[in-house]
Amino acid sequence: MFFPGGKCYYREEGGRMFSENIQEKLKEAMFHAGELVLSARYDDSPVHATQQLGIEVKPGSVNFVTAYDKAVQALLEDEFSQILPEARFLAEEDDDSGADNGIVNARDSLSGFVFVIDPIDGTTNFIKDYRLSTISAGLLKDGEPVWGAVLQPYSGEYFHAARGCGAFLGDKQIYASNVPLARSLIVFGTSPYYRQTLGRKSMAAAEELLMRATDLRRSGSAAYDLCTLAAGRADGFFELSLSPWDYAAGGLILKEAGGIVTNAFGEPLPFGRGISSSVVAGNSKNYPDILEIVGNIMTK
Ligand code: IPD
Ligand code: CA
Ligand code: CA
Repeated sequence: MFFPGGKCYYREEGGRMFSENIQEKLKEAMFHAGELVLSARYDDSPVHATQQLGIEVKPGSVNFVTAYDKAVQALLEDEFSQILPEARFLAEEDDDSGADNGIVNARDSLSGFVFVIDPIDGTTNFIKDYRLSTISAGLLKDGEPVWGAVLQPYSGEYFHAARGCGAFLGDKQIYASNVPLARSLIVFGTSPYYRQTLGRKSMAAAEELLMRATDLRRSGSAAYDLCTLAAGRADGFFELSLSPWDYAAGGLILKEAGGIVTNAFGEPLPFGRGISSSVVAGNSKNYPDILEIVGNIMTK
């Protein structure tokens, strides 16, 4: 496995590899970000969210950003750049205006190290105080994921993986399940910001999977969904359109847990500014069926 810092990694007893404290420092930054999310205050007023969370509307249907999304992203960019100064950033709330400021813009290459950050995955849940959102950060080396972490601040669950080292929830190694579709719990996303074009297709795929699997769940955080597969709590996932920051960390964590994750055509997930992709995930038994169901509906 490759990780920055020269002689930076060693093999612990049990075969797990680390890079000289880099992953520990990244983890500390993730938990600082978690504290920021947990510091949000809500009251009973119908206008609490707009006033207290600093909500703004983004392009697309029902797509919002809050002052907390921006503050968490600023904190991670600040702390991560102290840990890995050569890294650039591809983060959801970036101002990708073309300025040469360490931000990956649309036509930039992904050479070197790039952090791919979703400061709050599950902003709608956050606005509603639903208490299921995640902070998701992946690290690419020359366009390939090498590290990823997803923190669910409300539960303290910290999912993480480095390429070639397996996937972990805290200190415990986690594994994807190995059940067929008929015994699968399927989690999925509705692509809410693209509901005009993808809403009915999403529900058609969900309907077909409901008839063939055990049951369905919808959490509101794609990064968390991928981690539930990595931990063997759920068995299959699909969403018809996601962005790299939704899947950079969760995708690596799931692969390192032994799962499979691709787009709806069985191809590797793409990275870059302005890119979006369908995502299909599962295990070696159910993935071919989920891919067929979702792929057929995508191409109709
Ligand atoms: C969203 C969440 C949601 C998924 C959406 C994503 P956001 O991310 O992951 O589960 O269905 O497609 O955009 O906007 O809350 O960061
Ligand atoms: Ca997201
Ligand atoms: Ca987000």
